[in-house]
Amino acid sequence: MDPIYLDNNATTRVFPEVVQEMLPFFSEQFGNASSIHAFGEDVGSALRKARRSLQALIGAEFDHEIIFTSGGTESNNAAIRSALAANPQRTEFITSAVEHPAILSLADWLEKHEGITVHRIPVDKEGRLDIDAYREALNSKTALVSFMWANNETGTIFPVDGLAELAHEAGALFHTDAVQAVGKVPIDLKSTEIDMMSLSSHKLHGPKGLGALYVRKGVRFRPLLRGGHQERGRRGGTENAPAIIGLGKAADLTLATMAGDLPRIAALRDRLEEGIVEKVGHCFVTGDARDRLPNTTTIAFEYIEGEAILMLLNKQGIAASSGSACTSGSLEPSHVLRAMDIPFTAAHGAIRFSLSRETTEAEVDRVIEAVPAIIDQLREMSPFWSNEGGKAEFNPEYA
Ligand SMILES: Cc1ncc(COP(=O)(O)O)c(C=O)c1O
Repeated sequence: MDPIYLDNNATTRVFPEVVQEMLPFFSEQFGNASSIHAFGEDVGSALRKARRSLQALIGAEFDHEIIFTSGGTESNNAAIRSALAANPQRTEFITSAVEHPAILSLADWLEKHEGITVHRIPVDKEGRLDIDAYREALNSKTALVSFMWANNETGTIFPVDGLAELAHEAGALFHTDAVQAVGKVPIDLKSTEIDMMSLSSHKLHGPKGLGALYVRKGVRFRPLLRGGHQERGRRGGTENAPAIIGLGKAADLTLATMAGDLPRIAALRDRLEEGIVEKVGHCFVTGDARDRLPNTTTIAFEYIEGEAILMLLNKQGIAASSGSACTSGSLEPSHVLRAMDIPFTAAHGAIRFSLSRETTEAEVDRVIEAVPAIIDQLREMSPFWSNEGGKAEFNPEYA
């Protein structure tokens, strides 16, 4: 049986057209874009084209507002460090409790080692930001606010444009980690107040190890990587030309197909959710039902363990991901689900299915077929269940 890949928020398959576009830049067109000869000029003009393709996908006003980086993680680090360095009189940073570690671990570091006051704004049970807490945290010391556009685990979308306006009222800069949003929601940066935005190529069928940071014209920027004059002196280092050209192609393909693909992906995601929830008891969909990425669902299966579900899914050729992470010997459920106050017994059994434009209805139906038997099998072994009458039921002793 063909494998089914429903882990597209972790990474996506590089589109074959993207691979084709990249290939010549590993061989005959290997020049350095900065060189003043034909080898370099060819690459330079391909890079300019790729930058314009990405500009179109994110609706940036100017192509030079894009800085290519090594990925979402670098873009996030560059944005936060730049805002703090450019505004040393402001020493506070606001973010949310549900950001990716590429934001939260830097926030922890800044707080512990660099004297920055960090506010981690909570979310409600559906993962929506507590706007009152955000308003309260903003003050004349806030250098930067960074809220993700869309959550990688639940798909919940934050109203980033409005959040940026609030930041500006307090004189702070606004950055958004849009790694999961680009290609999955329409983005038109020129009509927003967002100052900086991070994205990552491998989440939209481009190559890994490449990302970009959008920095609005006029926003003061302090480079994370100082070196050569590449990226207008804002990110030193010879450009990763094949990857940038690949991302440009992925951006073209995404822009051309998005309008038709997104409703189709959302319909498949809804079919998957409904099919599973209908057949399996004691499980629920997490996140904001009204405002969510079209491709993402995290379903919490109560009283069993996510890693075990993943292993059994994997045996049937189905790839998904778990909300819990086995780190340092302890089974810690996801910080996102904990911040949403999802009970421990449910957060532990949370599984994320993330679809792509390549997902088919037949695949979704195979997953709907497979999941109920897996859940039954695990619940039968679970100490949190009793098996009276052959049917698994929750043992109230553990409530
Ligand atoms: C929301 C979010 N931010 C940042 C990253 C990191 O991106 P990269 O892998 O390109 O460093 C990810 C990747 O999972 C992500 O989901």
